[in-house]
Amino acid sequence: MIRRITFLAIGGTAAALTSGCDLGPKDSVQTGYRGAGLAQIVDRGKVAAASVIPPAPYPLPPDTGPRASETYQNVQVLGGLSTERFNHLMAEMNQWVAPPEAGCNYCHNPENMASDEKYTKVVARRMLQMTQTINSTWASHVKATKVTCYTCHRGKPVPDYKWALADGTPNPRSILGNKRGQNTPDPNVGYASLPSDPFAAYFAGKANIRVASDKALPSPDHVVSVKDAEKSYGLMMHVSSALGVNCTYCHNSQSFRAWNLSRGQRATAYYGIRMVRQANDEYITPLASVFPANRKGPHGDPYKINCTTCHQGINKPLGGKSMIDQAPVLAGPLVRPAPTEAGPAGSNAVLDALANPGAMTGKNEPAPTPARQ
Ligand code: HEC
Ligand code: HEC
Ligand code: HEC
Ligand code: HEC
Repeated sequence: MIRRITFLAIGGTAAALTSGCDLGPKDSVQTGYRGAGLAQIVDRGKVAAASVIPPAPYPLPPDTGPRASETYQNVQVLGGLSTERFNHLMAEMNQWVAPPEAGCNYCHNPENMASDEKYTKVVARRMLQMTQTINSTWASHVKATKVTCYTCHRGKPVPDYKWALADGTPNPRSILGNKRGQNTPDPNVGYASLPSDPFAAYFAGKANIRVASDKALPSPDHVVSVKDAEKSYGLMMHVSSALGVNCTYCHNSQSFRAWNLSRGQRATAYYGIRMVRQANDEYITPLASVFPANRKGPHGDPYKINCTTCHQGINKPLGGKSMIDQAPVLAGPLVRPAPTEAGPAGSNAVLDALANPGAMTGKNEPAPTPARQ
């Protein structure tokens, strides 16, 4: 249900109510039962501004005629594409990633287009594979909308939103002055006093996000510390601000842990976390030796992906607009869905968990009482 709220500046006329008001109209979107406080306030202007997609450089040609592998010398990923479509994709990559003043030469030596001498071309080839993997393996997250280079790059060589390993505590063994990354307001965690770098542990590492217990004291099957919980909450602040939503967009605050009380969006987010880990670990981190020093963080690792890289403050990147029809090859080959760590390949951990909430936490708990309706 969508209700329209119009904020009025100072003593406006009826016309100012509907147009020209700086604060802009907001939609209040109810996402749960009435009276349960499950509502999201959406700034229509912000969504509209973040949803602009560029027009295709020219209409997509048919996938007929000689293959790129027959026409060109060094085509390792896109060889099966028709030469016409290959050229079209190059024009798109030019528009989506390369700075306008450099154009094709951002990735190519114009004297020898087949040469891999520019690191940007080597990176772009891996990015092609990464995008195909995201679109084909992680349909559980990107659905039919899928992503292109533009979802992250928005016409720039380096995406606006990214992360690299942050400087740790200078003197980690000392109690004195060791803030453990806390109490330094940081946009990563929505300016909360939580540990400000949730990324290394959860988006490169595979640290456990789950912290809730059914027992009051630590037990052999629950060894999560308060520090782990603070870090996990830091990640949740990132997730919320990346999507421009609050916690109840995914959770029912009656129990943050229970999957059967959560919204479907939480399952989408669950897969998103695994998708981000795979993109970082298998595609971007291994490019460390390819990127020059000025493209790496203070610890020499390349800049990686988090939820904001694609979402940029809205629940669906680019307002849910799909660009995949302009570059169908980026949808990648059809493959089996990615396995989750909670089960073997092909099993659906989230659906399993809905039937048995204990399944996802690995703890044998009785099913929680369903929410009263
Ligand atoms: C963001 C980097 C990037 C930009 C910008 C780019 N290309 Fe490419 N280009 C590549 C990559 C990567 C390959 C290899 C693809 C593969 O291995 O499947 C390639 C391959 C080619 C080839 C095949 C060369 C051969 O013989 O092997 C041609 C031709 C080409 N690009 C033309 C262009 C043109 C024309 C433009 C500008 C409109 C352009 N490219 C812009 C990354 C780029
Ligand atoms: C999920 C997000 C994402 C997608 C999708 C994506 N990239 Fe990237 N790309 C990144 C990030 C993050 C970096 C920055 C790495 C760094 O600078 O250390 C990057 C860097 C690059 C660079 C190096 C730029 C430079 O100046 O150093 C090139 C070239 C590139 N990407 C090409 C592409 C192409 C072509 C596509 C589409 C086939 C694509 N990317 C899709 C996230 C993405
Ligand atoms: C976009 C969806 C989304 C939003 C918004 C979100 N979360 Fe989460 N949350 C998740 C997912 C997915 C998990 C489970 C991650 C996993 O199991 O690996 C989770 C797990 C948790 C857990 C751990 C539950 C357990 O089993 O121990 C807590 C606590 C939590 N979130 C709190 C919050 C708080 C507080 C907020 C708001 C600041 C928030 N979440 C916002 C998706 C979300
Ligand atoms: C590679 C780009 C990309 C990245 C990175 C990404 N997402 Fe998404 N996400 C998408 C796309 C595309 C959709 C839209 C799918 C659709 O049309 O339903 C989406 C949809 C969602 C939705 C469903 C929204 C709704 O209203 O139904 C949630 C929740 C979500 N993402 C959470 C996350 C979280 C949490 C992260 C970080 C762990 C993340 N995403 C990282 C591309 C991305």
